[in-house]
Amino acid sequence: MILMNWETNNIHIIRELFVYFLVVATIILGLVIFFTIFYGWKYRRRPNAETPTQDHGSKRFEILMIGIAFTITSVFFVLTVNGMNQIQNIPDNPIPDIIITGHMWWWEAEYRTDSIITANEIHIPANKKVLVQFNSDDVIHSWWIPKLGRKMDLVPGYDNYMWLQADEGEYWGTCSEFCGAQHALMRIHIIADSEDDFKIWKSSQLKPPPATQNPLFETGKRLFQEKTCISCHSVNIHDKEPVIGPNLAHFASRKYFLSNIELNTTENLYAWIKNPPAVKPNTQMPFLALTDKEVNALVYYIKTLR
Ligand code: CUA
Repeated sequence: MILMNWETNNIHIIRELFVYFLVVATIILGLVIFFTIFYGWKYRRRPNAETPTQDHGSKRFEILMIGIAFTITSVFFVLTVNGMNQIQNIPDNPIPDIIITGHMWWWEAEYRTDSIITANEIHIPANKKVLVQFNSDDVIHSWWIPKLGRKMDLVPGYDNYMWLQADEGEYWGTCSEFCGAQHALMRIHIIADSEDDFKIWKSSQLKPPPATQNPLFETGKRLFQEKTCISCHSVNIHDKEPVIGPNLAHFASRKYFLSNIELNTTENLYAWIKNPPAVKPNTQMPFLALTDKEVNALVYYIKTLR
């Protein structure tokens, strides 16, 4: 029921309100269609047809119709405001669990209590209310995962808040406010983990990536510094800066990259680093004229960051 307490999942409130609207609107539509056809048929053209009596309307009928329309609108107004209050039940001094920042064109996620900084693949604990703070680093973006309810704008210099709650599973969404050339390729990917899986994910993010003996690793690591990758991407999970590009601390653990557009495979990564603007026009990542060997080493290095 819509008069449910606010512990209820937001998506259920929205869904329920939608069903009420749908039922009432369908009944009204049905009545309109029925009467249109019925009177069209009753007073159809035929020999000796009965002509409808002409009059100047009925006051009582008009009052009745206005009254019904007013009542329906009022009931829905109250239900909507009630639903909105329950959904947007944000405390006065909100302390978010996750801070999501929009960038052209990727999503940054900061898990406040563990100060984990990650990007694009956003894990949340399933069946729990998670308070998310939204803001933007550049232009207005809009967060929208249809299966998880409402949209929320990410506005530079202004914090918006929203409760996020999901059953276990994966959810997809997209940026829904035009934000430049790659707006359509700003996919949102939420993974709602069971309590155990979420713990496992978190602890794996907090651990340093496993060491490796391969000489390509050392070369890649060196190139990452020398070729200035490091001035846009951090490889430390706690680093808030630089935020020009996503934090790559556990990049290899993510299934997708490029704002969840491409599978995180060696081939895709190779093509991307070799010539970023060819893969994602207008991207901030420059063409660095790297040799094949250099790209290989960089891909190897980044792939160890799991
Ligand atoms: Cu970000 Cu559209």
